[in-house]
Amino acid sequence: MPKLNENYLDLQESYLFSEIAHRVAEYTRENPDKKVIRLGIGDVTKPLAPLAIKALHEGVDAMATAETFKGYGPERGYDFLRDAIKDYYGRRGVEIDADEVFVSDGAKSDTGNITELFANDNVILVPDPVYPVYVDTNIMMGKKLVYMDGNAENDFLPMPDKSVHADVIYICSPNNPTGACYSKAQLKEWVDYALANDAVILFDAAYEAFVTDPDNLARSIFEIEGAKKCAIEFCSLSKTAGFTGTRCGYTIVPKDLKFMSSRGVEMSLNAMWNRRQSTKFNSTSYIIQHGAAAVFTEEGMAQCMENIHYYQENARIIADMLGKKGIRYYGGINSPYIWFECPNGMESWDFFDYLLKNAQVVGTPGAGFGKNGKNFFRLTAFGSRENTIEAMERFDQLF
Ligand code: MLT
Repeated sequence: MPKLNENYLDLQESYLFSEIAHRVAEYTRENPDKKVIRLGIGDVTKPLAPLAIKALHEGVDAMATAETFKGYGPERGYDFLRDAIKDYYGRRGVEIDADEVFVSDGAKSDTGNITELFANDNVILVPDPVYPVYVDTNIMMGKKLVYMDGNAENDFLPMPDKSVHADVIYICSPNNPTGACYSKAQLKEWVDYALANDAVILFDAAYEAFVTDPDNLARSIFEIEGAKKCAIEFCSLSKTAGFTGTRCGYTIVPKDLKFMSSRGVEMSLNAMWNRRQSTKFNSTSYIIQHGAAAVFTEEGMAQCMENIHYYQENARIIADMLGKKGIRYYGGINSPYIWFECPNGMESWDFFDYLLKNAQVVGTPGAGFGKNGKNFFRLTAFGSRENTIEAMERFDQLF
């Protein structure tokens, strides 16, 4: 009999968004006449930018002739895409080397897989509320987590506690689920803390394109002095370019990130991640990478930003309604997520059921992101304009 990975016994029975999908499917089966509006999972609804579509078609055409056909690609991703990502950072004044870029099928996989590079006896700091992937993937490996509270008192932006040591620190900014965004000055404190502790920051920048105040708010941890010595950055085209279904992301592992092992050998995280990816992964397909490279051109990014502005307007519509109802909310300005306290002191799963049953609007219960989300709820601005307006009209009537 195989001995199983019993760490799985420590997980919740199902992944948050699977549980939501299950509850919504059950409701729609029982109420087939009701129009359900989904503002739960952060899944985009706008079609891809025209330049990305054109490049994807070109990618398919390349597969049609022997001269241009592509088989296995480089495990880190094609040079043309890694160079395009380097240029994208360069245009924002952040210098990275193409050798530090690893192309993948999305930030979810990379933030989940990166745990393999770290031993189990690290002090791993995660915020609460938190994107459940960080927590679940560590639990699967049998790792212990230390939580730092995000709450109304700190505007859901926990800061380092200098009296506590950490080895690995997860930060997501703009944050999923709260939409809160660290200022450059706050991130500098985190970088200084990481350097003082010889720690690594795992920085999830999946929502960077939503930042509206780039002078004060960082879109990349590498805008902060010293970060190249203590941070890995994860990013994705899912939210920036609508690639949730198309799948492409990237991770930047600076070559300066080196730590002494207990065996007295210096280890490079860039080399370790390269070893891990080349052993277990073959990057994402040529066709997708060709489409992704078009996203990073100035024209491609301008087209993507039109979609981002559309979602930002949706966020404003949601925020306005919450404001009108006197409900305090977070996010929605530098983020597609709006995070608010459930009305009438309700708990978040109760509020989820109440909203589904009485307004046929799906959101995400804050409890799914940790104990500090127990009385909070998340709505996404990634729906269509019509559905967002209709959902808020229903909200208006209900409260
Ligand atoms: C979310 O809704 O939190 C995200 O869409 C999940 C993800 O990006 O994997």
